Amino acid sequence: MKVVVVGAGYVGLVTGICLAEFGHDVTMVDANPARVESLKSGQCPIYEPGLTELLHRNLETGRLHVAQKTELVVANSDVIFLAVSTPASGSGQADLTYIQQATQDIISGLALSNRHHTVVIKSTVPVGTGASIQSQFDAAGLNPQVVVVSNPEFLREGSAVQDCLNPDRIVIGAAHPDHAATLKALYHPYVARDIRIMVVSQYAAEHIKYAANAFLALKISFINELGHLCEKTHTDVQEVATGIGLDHRINPYFLNVGPGFGGSCFPKDVAALQAVGQAYDVPMALLDAVLLVNTRQKQHVVSLVRRAAPVPAPRVAVLGLAFKGNTDDMRDAPALDIVPALVADGCTVVAFDPVAQSNASGVLPKSIHYAASVAEAVTDADLVLILTEWNAFYDLDWAVLKGLVRHPVVVDTRRVVDPVLAQSAGFRYIGIGRG
Ligand code: UDX
Ligand code: UDX
Repeated sequence: MKVVVVGAGYVGLVTGICLAEFGHDVTMVDANPARVESLKSGQCPIYEPGLTELLHRNLETGRLHVAQKTELVVANSDVIFLAVSTPASGSGQADLTYIQQATQDIISGLALSNRHHTVVIKSTVPVGTGASIQSQFDAAGLNPQVVVVSNPEFLREGSAVQDCLNPDRIVIGAAHPDHAATLKALYHPYVARDIRIMVVSQYAAEHIKYAANAFLALKISFINELGHLCEKTHTDVQEVATGIGLDHRINPYFLNVGPGFGGSCFPKDVAALQAVGQAYDVPMALLDAVLLVNTRQKQHVVSLVRRAAPVPAPRVAVLGLAFKGNTDDMRDAPALDIVPALVADGCTVVAFDPVAQSNASGVLPKSIHYAASVAEAVTDADLVLILTEWNAFYDLDWAVLKGLVRHPVVVDTRRVVDPVLAQSAGFRYIGIGRG
């Protein structure tokens, strides 16, 4: 099939490249000319494990193309994906400006087309958006030629390629079940592998996306708040998490204590669902609590550092800046709140992140120093603070680090350090969520 994906970001790029891998003819469109050029030359503009290899392979086979203008490429397509960003506006509501612009571009591009097109909303949009976009195509005289369906993404950055190739489920929201037929045909490898494809109403599909992210965020805030209590009661919250997670009604996933959730989705999607609740006069009290606990968790990290600091104005080595491991994404990363708060407290911050440093340097205070390695970051440090669970941080040699730091203190917000190893090397160990 001929596919156009509008928006070559974390979601659009992974989706488009995986569809080319399935054998489809895919054109990626992005309004950013630098991104278009970089993709054409085989350079992946984001860090996502496994994606560069697939990009090269599909450019070489000629199944993947890159363009800058939506209106010039859509007429020849069967399926058009909308994967532009839907950032939070000031009030938390999803900002649909880019979706609206892309819709207008598609309408212009289809002026002379007489074939059938399925427009798929991949971007996360509030309930009712799909219906509103369908009515814009209808008003432009494109009914029944264009049908709009919703198909939310559930890709986790850092494992997005795997998630795209092996999804738990596919959700298709359609005004009529027949509208889902083209997308099911496009997704033939999922059908062949018996991956569950749910066809639901468009409204349900839009709600499923927000509800899934809000529920996962709720689990994290729950365990983070419980972790705070566990610290006071000298209990290890991860033992509690394992104990409750073995109950299959609860399951063990998304019960890892941390510095607070971040990323391009959870904070914005919880706020957007709150805004939908407000619009329909249904206050979402649980969601208020999810965000409040998340804000407190970041403040809690700062107070853990404050209490553990061996000197009044410590030099803090921050290991990890990205919002999670295996990504260069700094959007809503806990580091964006924690690091400036440490600087305001009088700390000198030296940071190391294996891939997010260049993105981080644009959004963190200018006074931060960046190191080229863990060893350089911890040299002369009074305290080591771990903020991201990069694989390399799981097996740090604490005996070697002991020889480099000024004071051996580590605050581990990701629970990647073996406390026995760190303590036997002479470190004072503070693990979030444990006594
Ligand atoms: C996606 C979604 O689509 C968003 O709704 C969801 O909640 C999170 O995931 P993401 O892929 O992370 O967003 O966004 P981003 O990495 O910012 O990519 C968006 C891309 O669209 C960028 O490359 C941007 O240049 C491009 N874009 C944006 C356009 O091509 N046209 C526009 O009008 C706006
Ligand atoms: C999320 C959704 O999981 C995915 O389905 C899609 O909708 C996009 O948004 P992503 O934001 O890429 O994916 O990463 P995710 O693994 O969900 O982590 C989000 C945040 O929660 C990160 O800051 C992560 O560190 C944090 N987290 C996750 C925890 O603190 N504890 C956990 O147990 C799991």
